Amino acid sequence: VRKLIAGNWKMNGLKAALAEAAKMAEMVGDGNGADVLICPPFTLIGALAEELDGSAIRVGGQDCHVVESGAHTGDISAHMIADMGGNYCIVGHSERRADHGEDDALVKQKAEAVLRAGLTPIICVGETREEREAGKAGDVVSAQLAGSLPDSGQYVVAYEPVWAIGTGLVPTLEDIAEIHTLVRSKVGSKTRILYGGSVKPSNAEEILTVANVDGALVGGASLKADDFYGIYSAI
Ligand code: 13P
Repeated sequence: VRKLIAGNWKMNGLKAALAEAAKMAEMVGDGNGADVLICPPFTLIGALAEELDGSAIRVGGQDCHVVESGAHTGDISAHMIADMGGNYCIVGHSERRADHGEDDALVKQKAEAVLRAGLTPIICVGETREEREAGKAGDVVSAQLAGSLPDSGQYVVAYEPVWAIGTGLVPTLEDIAEIHTLVRSKVGSKTRILYGGSVKPSNAEEILTVANVDGALVGGASLKADDFYGIYSAI
């Protein structure tokens, strides 16, 4: 499958960041090497989709509500992201699971809402440090997949060990291979499986050549065009 390099800007990015994204689009050019995606905060989705219109970079959301519209103050639906020109939406990121108490059942409902809106969900899973140290990483990821994946439809899975996010720590290539092979056994050959957690230009090449790694979900290093392009060009 064609690789996907996705940037998750998290709660970063003011209007000035549009220029950085334009620079990324220029560097990526026709995107021959891989699919490229940026998920900015909701406030920038519309402007970024306009800025990147005609480029090889797609735009996505970082979360959505489970229904299309209604009395849910402060929430955003997948249909709204689609309406703004989005193509993807991340669901079940560990920061949503931790900060907002999102559980697998809710993540599954969100993934299904993303599919109903005609977008591709990127469903995040991954163990905590305690779970890894207890030898439970595989069991945790299996349970998250069983509870969070939609029953049908085309989606992307992102394996992001919580302890590797924003820490500079990365699992060994063997550990990444082990979990990705496990995920592969659950999702089949057509589903892209991304690795996320401290991906940088300096480690992207070795991570992206691990079996069953079909791309990366990048946080911090997706905010600067030079870093993000460095990861893209490692393919
Ligand atoms: P970092 O790349 O900053 O570790 O973040 C990873 C992540 O959570 C992407 O969703």
